[in-house]
Amino acid sequence: MALWGGRFSAGSSSMFRQVNDSLPFDQVMAAQDMQGSIVWSRALHKAGVLSEQEQQQLEDALTRLQRQAEAGELDFAASTEEDIHSFVEAALIDELGDVGRKLHTGRSRNDQVATDFRLWVREHTDSLKQDLYQLIRALLNTANRHQEAIIPGYTHLQRAQPIMFAHWCLAYVEMFKRDISRLEDLQKRLNQCPLGSGALAGTTYPVDRDDIAQQLGFDSPCLNSLDAVSDRDFVLELLFTASTSMMHISRMAEDLIFYNSGEAGFLQLGDTVTSGSSLMPQKKNPDALELMRGKCGRVFGALQALLVTMKGLPLAYNKDMQEDKEGAIDTVNQWHCCLCIATEVLDSLSLNETRCREAAAQGYANATELADYLVEKGIPFRTGHDIAGKVVLAALEQSCPIEDMPLADLQAICDKFDDDVYPVLQLEYGVNKRNILGGTSAKTVIQALYQELENLDKQGL
Ligand code: ARG
Repeated sequence: MALWGGRFSAGSSSMFRQVNDSLPFDQVMAAQDMQGSIVWSRALHKAGVLSEQEQQQLEDALTRLQRQAEAGELDFAASTEEDIHSFVEAALIDELGDVGRKLHTGRSRNDQVATDFRLWVREHTDSLKQDLYQLIRALLNTANRHQEAIIPGYTHLQRAQPIMFAHWCLAYVEMFKRDISRLEDLQKRLNQCPLGSGALAGTTYPVDRDDIAQQLGFDSPCLNSLDAVSDRDFVLELLFTASTSMMHISRMAEDLIFYNSGEAGFLQLGDTVTSGSSLMPQKKNPDALELMRGKCGRVFGALQALLVTMKGLPLAYNKDMQEDKEGAIDTVNQWHCCLCIATEVLDSLSLNETRCREAAAQGYANATELADYLVEKGIPFRTGHDIAGKVVLAALEQSCPIEDMPLADLQAICDKFDDDVYPVLQLEYGVNKRNILGGTSAKTVIQALYQELENLDKQGL
């Protein structure tokens, strides 16, 4: 039975119900809806609307419903109620009759859904933060396992300069730290309570909105009832944060897919996160990584969809806004799964340090070192760059790396070259010379790694 049947003489069509009903997906907010209703019943009692006994009856029934919800005992599929709010109210009316019919006094599903969804997002942002910390821990452990490893660093997917593998891991740590800070930031803005805003104009009953907000763990009540019932910025911020984080996950996945390719051969992935081919017996495919990359589409789509849904809506509530949930629920699920599987992939991978080193030493990745060597000999960098370029060309013609070129050949290009050039061309030299804050030297990277590990330990994560 709908909550609003009084002024209607005909029932809803089944197609309308299919489009209109949100219970199939908003049932995920059952716990939040019941929590909000308990606090609302207390507010109504304090405002003199419900007797102490009525309030107690409602709170007891809601607590029982909460327990049933937790145990998965509520049969949403069999219900004909249109949404979670109607479902809970109908259950109370079923059990308590007229007392159940009093709960919605002064309240609207508009301020109710705005409150429930904020509570739901708040709870999930907390657990997503934990997922992100777990992934950061996995990156740090991976870096720790391969403290000495050097890989080629790329720009334009061309070998550019050698870097510590741990430096690569720590780059992603920075990204995921920013995702956590974005979640914390949105949590601050989200934490205002819409309840007591009514349908749009506020409520006529003298409920204590500060007390309601406090009981539900909000920092304060929302200050404008029109805004309170129609603001979905907190969902958009969640979707943006998820999209940015999924983009980070996807870039990491892309790097790992390439490192795992036959061509690069830098690493092996565990059997637990890869799959085989139904036709080619030799195959071991990086499906988990590809799916992390692939799932970005639906998450970015959810952000775009809600932005478009919201952009033309007149104040205050419109049913269009019910479209805020499915994309957000799916996004939270996908993001959670991708963070967890990314953690598993990192835990499972084994780096082929010898092969990495070999690749890092190829591709003339020490040419910058050559230019810097000439700078030390008093040659302006631009000229040194040009000379180093000529050396690369000569080395290419001889099909050998720079360090294998005889000194005479180097001196034929520039007379400043001497025997002391050869140590400069060694792999470690270029890496360890970058011992500046944020650089890739073994020392700075290990320092940064220990700092991050200490930060997590200090926070008990
Ligand atoms: N299921 C609705 C939603 O998610 C609840 C609010 C309904 N409000 C209304 N006035 N019809 O948006």
